[in-house]
Amino acid sequence: MHLLIPAAGMGRRMGSNRNKLLLTLLGKPLLAWTLQAAEATSQITWIGIMGQPEDFEDFKGIIADLQLSKPVELIRGGDTRQESVYNGLQALPNDAERVLIHDGARCLATPQLFDRCGEALLHDSGLIAAIAVKDTIKVVDEAGTIQDTPDRSNLWAAQTPQGFDVKLLKSCHEKGKQLGWQVTDDAALFEKCELPVKIVEGEETNLKVTTPVDLAIAESILRQRIS
Ligand code: CTP
Ligand code: MG
Repeated sequence: MHLLIPAAGMGRRMGSNRNKLLLTLLGKPLLAWTLQAAEATSQITWIGIMGQPEDFEDFKGIIADLQLSKPVELIRGGDTRQESVYNGLQALPNDAERVLIHDGARCLATPQLFDRCGEALLHDSGLIAAIAVKDTIKVVDEAGTIQDTPDRSNLWAAQTPQGFDVKLLKSCHEKGKQLGWQVTDDAALFEKCELPVKIVEGEETNLKVTTPVDLAIAESILRQRIS
């Protein structure tokens, strides 16, 4: 099974002046933690990383340090995550039938989660890791007034890995490009194409490192894991 890692963002909300995936957690770059988990999975046989060309030298250094057994390819990312995934899909080897997509910024996902998603992808053509939301979610209008409180028992927080049939996902991306759909994950494209997407139980610790607070939380989780 093939894995694509979107890693071409700017990390604006992190407020640092470089790609947040190059920041370190316990002395190791975020991207290295993500790659290390992918390396430890049983089903993934090929890894593509979408990045900005100015980061490629750093990425190569990280890959070399990890001495990965799986082949890794660097792919030019786009201006949005959606474009980066689009580019990644074009760069997949021709024999790729199913693909897992996992944000480089979710560097705490365990190999077990990758394997759970990979296993489910053998019989479902669209799936995402997700967890039941803990907070009560409000729908708020532009004036700051609550419009609705959706029933929490139906609400799930989307994570990655997300897994798809390659042909179907490619056609959803093409359609999205033509019709100008702008989405923040690949499941949303599948949904807009009216294709079913299943939920796989995610991990509470599988946070997307987005702000400086997330960095602190991620470091404390990692410290606990290795102690
Ligand atoms: N990503 C990407 N290409 C982009 C934008 C984002 O591959 N043009 C990747 C990021 O590197 C990250 C994942 O998509 O691994 C999720 O994006 P996000 O957490 O939003 O990261 P950034 O876009 O870097 O952060 P920000 O939105 O705060 O700038
Ligand atoms: Mg972003």
